[in-house]
Amino acid sequence: MPNCLIDPADVTLPVFAVHEDAFGNWLERQDDDVRNWLSATGFKGRGGQVSMLPGDGGVAGAVYVIGGNDDRGGLWAWAGLRAGLPKGSFHIEGDVLSADDAYDAALGFAMASYHYDRYRKSGEHDEDGEDDPNSPYLVWPEGCDRDAVRGAHGAATLVRDLINTPASDLGPAELAEAAKELADATGASYREVVGVDLIREDFPAIYAVGRGAEDSRAPRLVEFTWGPEDAPRVTLVGKGVTFDTGGLDIKPTNAMKLMKKDMGGAAHALGLASMVMAAKLNVRLRVIVAAVENSVSGAAMRPQDVIATRKGLSVEIGNTDAEGRVILADALALASEDQPDVILDFATLTGAARVALGTDLPALLCNDNDLAQDILEGGTRTADPLWPLPLHQPYKKQTKGKIADLRNDTDGPYGGAIMAGLFLEAFVGEGISWAHVDLMGWNLSATPGKPEGGEAMSLRAMFAALTQRFGSQDSI
Ligand code: BES
Ligand code: MN
Ligand code: ZN
Repeated sequence: MPNCLIDPADVTLPVFAVHEDAFGNWLERQDDDVRNWLSATGFKGRGGQVSMLPGDGGVAGAVYVIGGNDDRGGLWAWAGLRAGLPKGSFHIEGDVLSADDAYDAALGFAMASYHYDRYRKSGEHDEDGEDDPNSPYLVWPEGCDRDAVRGAHGAATLVRDLINTPASDLGPAELAEAAKELADATGASYREVVGVDLIREDFPAIYAVGRGAEDSRAPRLVEFTWGPEDAPRVTLVGKGVTFDTGGLDIKPTNAMKLMKKDMGGAAHALGLASMVMAAKLNVRLRVIVAAVENSVSGAAMRPQDVIATRKGLSVEIGNTDAEGRVILADALALASEDQPDVILDFATLTGAARVALGTDLPALLCNDNDLAQDILEGGTRTADPLWPLPLHQPYKKQTKGKIADLRNDTDGPYGGAIMAGLFLEAFVGEGISWAHVDLMGWNLSATPGKPEGGEAMSLRAMFAALTQRFGSQDSI
């Protein structure tokens, strides 16, 4: 994995990778056959385009024009290569790529090779007319940090697969199973608190949201811990709502449509954990997932119910559809109990974050400016951007309940992502650096390297920030 990237082999066709700005120069250096072919086929040499090249026996190789894709550069500028190549094995020809370009080329190719085919009959052609989802193949570019590519690709694939799996096959139990598989594979110690045990072990808020589906899909708190005990403590927290109907404040058709993705935050916590563990970062890693289905039943929580939380703060349920912050309240309280150095939480928390920033840019809300800076810079370096929103303290009064300590909704439609962030902040322990990511976790339509469906967002940014702060176990 990724199996679309192969070791050097005898017969692979060359791909000439040319930057968009240098395409004119490159074209001048080609022989007439190539120039005539490209002109006759109307090839313009725009970023992201691929053309096959003629040769004596037929095809001599291909030319790929780097650039184009919105952010012009980095990973996504390379991701168009995969879609333009036919079945076959290729290698990138020419000067040895810089380490960054080699990483971008390999990861872009691998990200573009993703297919979610769990429910397709094997051997059946998919919509692209492809019978083999793994073709074409690309030889690992020379000088490429393969482990780094494998880490980022494995994490993104895990996130995409988990999000794409329908709620019928991924309820709280199956989400927990995915966490356990990851923990078992890396020797991490794992535990799960299920159903009414959530009350016994003091996770009343997780239970309150999940109890509407308790009989069929019991809610649970999942956690695992990995790494040297004395290393800096990093705790990842994820919202794992395996389906969000809205609860009694039920969502209308269009808003409910994509809600299998509402466990995307949990998927991100697991994906980032897989990267951290694969790279053996020098951290004591703890992963906490609150897994529930927000369902409609006689047992479901109601508007104006007041529920208890692990932290001891009471919460008035203004809207049963603002369930994410309620389960995260208990998860963040637990996360804070051993005073970690950093808490990162991931959640498909608010539609408001999407109104503010669109679907591709996750919102970052952070109580520590240095940490925020590291994450934002990490995102810029890895073509994985986030955008900051403020934890504006004067708005905090809008999260106060009428009869309880807090409320889970607000009166007006404004600043919803910030209100949610301020609500969460109340459950983070004093003095702990904390960053909250409010993300979409889904591509509404396909662009190079980003197929429609579940998507990992901010993982490379977070991994870059953690690597910069803590380094790997080997380097100490
Ligand atoms: N899971 C949704 C938020 C969501 C919706 C994320 C669409 C991404 C795309 C969340 O549980 C929710 O329903 N939030 C409400 C909160 C409101 C009731 C205060 C929202 O954003 O409308
Ligand atoms: Mn909701
Ligand atoms: Zn939700």
